[in-house]
Amino acid sequence: MVVSEFGGPEQLRLDEVADPVAGPGQVRVAVHAAGVNPVDAGNRADGDWAGLRVPCILGYDIAGVIDSVGPGVTSLAPGDRVMAMTHFPDGAGGYAEFTVTDAALVAPIGPATSFTDAAATPVAAGTASLVLARLGLPAGSRLLVLGASGGVGLFLLQLAAAAGIVTIGVGRPVRHAQMSDLGAVACIDYTREDVASRALTLAGGGPVDAIADLVGGKLAQAALAALRPGGQIAAIATPELDLDPLLDANISFHGVLITDDGARTRMLAGLLERRALRSVVSRVLPLSDAAEAHRMVEGGQADGKIVLDVANG
Ligand SMILES: NC(=O)c1ccc[n+]([C@@H]2O[C@H](COP(=O)([O-])OP(=O)(O)OC[C@H]3O[C@@H](n4cnc5c(N)ncnc54)[C@H](OP(=O)(O)O)[C@@H]3O)[C@@H](O)[C@H]2O)c1
Repeated sequence: MVVSEFGGPEQLRLDEVADPVAGPGQVRVAVHAAGVNPVDAGNRADGDWAGLRVPCILGYDIAGVIDSVGPGVTSLAPGDRVMAMTHFPDGAGGYAEFTVTDAALVAPIGPATSFTDAAATPVAAGTASLVLARLGLPAGSRLLVLGASGGVGLFLLQLAAAAGIVTIGVGRPVRHAQMSDLGAVACIDYTREDVASRALTLAGGGPVDAIADLVGGKLAQAALAALRPGGQIAAIATPELDLDPLLDANISFHGVLITDDGARTRMLAGLLERRALRSVVSRVLPLSDAAEAHRMVEGGQADGKIVLDVANG
C-alpha cells in the first residue's frame, strides 16, 4: 500500500513493488496483520517529521512470520511467528506483504496470540507503558486518564491496574463499560460532565496524583483543578497548557514520545500470551481498505484499534 504523494487518505494505493531484502542484522517478515495508528495518518499527510520520502509504505505495527533472515541473525529463523514495532520514526513499511526490520526490534509471539491482537499492540501499548514509566507512580496512586477509551488509553488502564494504580478514565459513555472492564475504577463522560470537579468526587475522592493526557488540546488545562500540588502530567499529544499554574503548584510535566524498543515489545508479547494484557480490536479491514481505516482514525471513529488484514487482504 504505497503513498506516492503526501496528502489525504486517497493517496494510499495498492501497488506492486520489489520485495525488500534483509540486510545484516535484519529479518524479512511476511506480514499477516498491520496495526493502524494515528501517527500513520499524520505521516500520510506529511512525512517530513518522520523523515519519510515518497514513494513510501506506512505502518509501524506488524505481526507475521519470519520469511528470511539477514547475515548475522541467529536469534530468529524462518517460520517464527513474530510481532514488531519497526524502526521509528523513519522506518515504517508495515502496510505490505513483506517488510524488513531490525532483528533486535522483533518479538516472538506465542501460539495463544493471534496476529490481529499482536499487530494492534506494539505502538499503543508501548506508549502506555512509557507514560507509566515516566510517571513512576506507586501503587495506590490516583491517575486521571484523558482519552482512556482510545487505543493507547485502553492499554494504559490495564497496565496501571496491574501496578495497583487507581485510574479514573475519561471518555464517551458508550465506552465506559469497556473502560471499567479493562481496569478503570471510575469513568467520566467528557461530553456532559465537568472533568475536574467530577474527578475530585470519584474513586475515593480528592485530588489526583497525576494526569495522563492522551488527547492533547485544551483538556489538560480544564482537568488541572483536579491535580494535587506537586503532581505530574504526562502528555503524548500536544496540550494547550498555561505554564503559570504548573509553576505555582510545583507540577512536573512530561512530554512523552515513543521510541522503538525491542525489549519493550518482547515484554508486551509476553503479557499478551499470558492474557495479562488484552488488545481491543474494533475492526479488521483488508489491506486494500487502508484509506478507509485512516478516515476512521482521523474521524475519531476507531473505538479501539483498527488492524489491516494483509494475509487475506
Ligand atoms: N507521543 C507518542 O509517542 C504517541 C504515541 C501514540 C499515540 N500518540 C497520539 O496520542 C493520541 C491518542 O492516540 P490513540 O492511538 O489512543 O488514538 P485513538 O485510538 O484515536 O483515541 C483517541 C482518544 O481521544 C479521545 N478524545 C477525542 N476527543 C476528545 C475530547 N474532546 N475529550 C476527551 N477525549 C477525547 C477519544 O475518546 P472517545 O472516543 O471516548 O471520544 C479516544 O479515547 C493521538 O493524537 C496520537 O497521535 C502519541
